[in-house]
Amino acid sequence: MQAVQFSTHGDRDVLEYGDFPDPEIDRDEVLIDVKAAALNYLDIWTRRGLPGIDLEMPHIPGSDAAGVVEAVGEDVTRFEAGDRVSVLAGKSGGDDEFTRKGDPTLAPDFHIIGEHVRGVHSEYAAVPAANLAPVPEGVDWETAAAAPLVFQTAWRMLRDRGGLQAGEKVLVLGASGGVGHAAVQIADLAGAEVFATASSEEKLGYAEEIGADHTIDYEETDFASEIREMTDGRGVDMVVDHVGAQTWQSSLESLVKGGRVVTCGATTGGTPETDLNRIFWNQLSVIGSTMATPGQAEEVLELVWDGTLEPRIRETFPMSEIASAHEMLENREGFGKVVVVPDSEL
Ligand SMILES: NC(=O)c1ccc[n+]([C@@H]2O[C@H](COP(=O)([O-])OP(=O)(O)OC[C@H]3O[C@@H](n4cnc5c(N)ncnc54)[C@H](OP(=O)(O)O)[C@@H]3O)[C@@H](O)[C@H]2O)c1
Repeated sequence: MQAVQFSTHGDRDVLEYGDFPDPEIDRDEVLIDVKAAALNYLDIWTRRGLPGIDLEMPHIPGSDAAGVVEAVGEDVTRFEAGDRVSVLAGKSGGDDEFTRKGDPTLAPDFHIIGEHVRGVHSEYAAVPAANLAPVPEGVDWETAAAAPLVFQTAWRMLRDRGGLQAGEKVLVLGASGGVGHAAVQIADLAGAEVFATASSEEKLGYAEEIGADHTIDYEETDFASEIREMTDGRGVDMVVDHVGAQTWQSSLESLVKGGRVVTCGATTGGTPETDLNRIFWNQLSVIGSTMATPGQAEEVLELVWDGTLEPRIRETFPMSEIASAHEMLENREGFGKVVVVPDSEL
C-alpha cells in the first residue's frame, strides 16, 4: 500500500508518501480501506519527535481517518466487511482499575494511535475494533475523518471536565483551530455566551458563523483587558486554552473569581510563568483534559452525524502532498480541519 511515513524526526522534508507493507490484522482488529484522513497538531509534534516516545521507524503518522471495513479479525463481532467507520485514536489495552471504571483515558497505558504507535495516514489501516465508531450512510468521508479527535477532546473539556452550564460565559482561544472550532460549537450548543479569539478578522468572521457571540483578535490586542471591558469588569466563568505559554497568564487574568481554565494543549510551549497569587486569591481551578472515553466520543459524534455540530474543512490535499498539509497547520493558515485523501481515491 501507499502510506505517509518518516524514518527520522525533523522538519517537513522528512515526510514521504510511498510503498509500505500491507497491514496485517490481529484477532481483535479491523482492516480499514481509508477513504479520508485528517490532521491534528499532534501530527506536527510526532513528526518533530516527542520526549519519552521512541517510535518504531518508519512511522506512519495520523490519528484521524474514516473508511470502509475490508476485513475483520476472528474475535470481532461489532463490525463486518462493508461497514462505514471512523477511528477513535485513544487506546488502552490494560485491564486496570481505570479501564474497568469506564475511563481508559486515565489508565497508565493510555496511548494514542499515530502518536505512540503507527497511525492511519495510509491507504489501509489495521485498528482494534474497540477504536472504531460506526458512521451512518449519508455522512461524507471528510466529515467522518475530521470530526473524531477534536470533537471528542472539546466535548470532554467543556462538558465532563469543565462542567459547563447554560448561561455561563466561556472564552475559547485559538477558535480557528481544530479543537478551538469544536469548542465554540459545543459551548454555543450548551447555551453559553461564547467569547472567541483568533489571529485575523477573517477567522473571527468564521468563528461568529459557528456560534461565537463576541470575538477578539488576540494578535492585535491584550485579550484579558478586552474580556474585562466586554464583561463590565467581571471576567468569564471558563477559559478553554490549548495555545499554552503565550496565552496562559492572560487566560488566568480573564477569569471571574471562582472561574476555571481547562487546558488540553500547549502549542506555544508547556512551561509558562504562572501567578499563584491570582490562582489562590481568586480561587481559580486549573483543569487538565485529554481525549475522551469511547462513550463520550460516540455521544458527541452522534451530534456530528446528525448535523448539529460540523467540522469545517480548511482544505483537502492528496496524501502525496502531506508536507503542504503540515505546512498549513504550522503556518496557522485557514479555519477548521485539514483533510488528506489517499491519491488512489482521487
Ligand atoms: N490533550 C489532548 O487530548 C489534545 C487533543 C487535541 C489537541 N491537543 C493539543 O491542542 C493544541 C491544538 O490542536 P489542534 O489540532 O486543534 O491544532 P490546530 O488545528 O493547528 O489549531 C491550533 C490553533 O492555535 C492557534 N495558535 C496560536 N499560536 C499558534 C502557533 N504558534 N502555532 C500554531 N497555532 C497557533 C491557531 O489559531 P490562530 O491563528 O487563530 O491563533 C491555530 O488555529 C495542540 O497543541 C494539540 O497538541 C491536545
